[in-house]
Amino acid sequence: MSKIDFLNRVKVKIAPSILAADFLNLENEIKKIKENNIEILHFDIMDGHFVPNISFGKDFISSLRKSLSIIFDVHLMVYEPEKFIEDFVKAGSDIITFHREVTNTPLRIVKQIKSFKIKAGISLNPLTEISTIMPILDELDIVLIMSVEPGFYGQKFLDWNLKKIEELKNYIVKNNLKTLIEVDGGINEENIKIVEKAGADIVVMGAGFFKNF
Ligand code: DX5
Ligand code: ZN
Repeated sequence: MSKIDFLNRVKVKIAPSILAADFLNLENEIKKIKENNIEILHFDIMDGHFVPNISFGKDFISSLRKSLSIIFDVHLMVYEPEKFIEDFVKAGSDIITFHREVTNTPLRIVKQIKSFKIKAGISLNPLTEISTIMPILDELDIVLIMSVEPGFYGQKFLDWNLKKIEELKNYIVKNNLKTLIEVDGGINEENIKIVEKAGADIVVMGAGFFKNF
């Protein structure tokens, strides 16, 4: 009964953001994830410092690990991400993404993540230029383009980010890179097609997925 119809009309992979789930009824939310054949689940880790909100930590991830064997995509919105990576790997992360804005040594952190044999991503806030990661793009499994200012689910999609997605996609295709583009924030049934067309391989969906019923 919790099938979301429009998911069948798009090719792009959907990564629901568990931040927007009903925490009182997680069992039912897990059912929704399974019934919609979701392959990637997105976890928003917030430190109340880099972003003005606090979410959950590694123990939440490891408890969901017991019920789900899909890809766990962990989005660290924290300062000093290097301090937390090992813990999040142990909790069951398959992908760890940190923010470009929190460090001047992103390559070192990418290598740290990859040393655990999982995928590494860098996220860019809406106003952070793609030029800040271009030289190390071939080292990245994922670029996570924020289409809202990070901190909360349920915000409005900033459509001037589409140009950034298109530019990055063109560069990736032209240079024959394997880097995937993930887009995060304000994506729903109405705008998912334009995000897909701009070049997203994965879209995160918080309210659009969990509040859709
Ligand atoms: C925002 C988070 C997003 C958010 C997505 O800081 O990174 O992942 O939970 O939720 P929606 O799709 O509702 O914007
Ligand atoms: Zn996120």
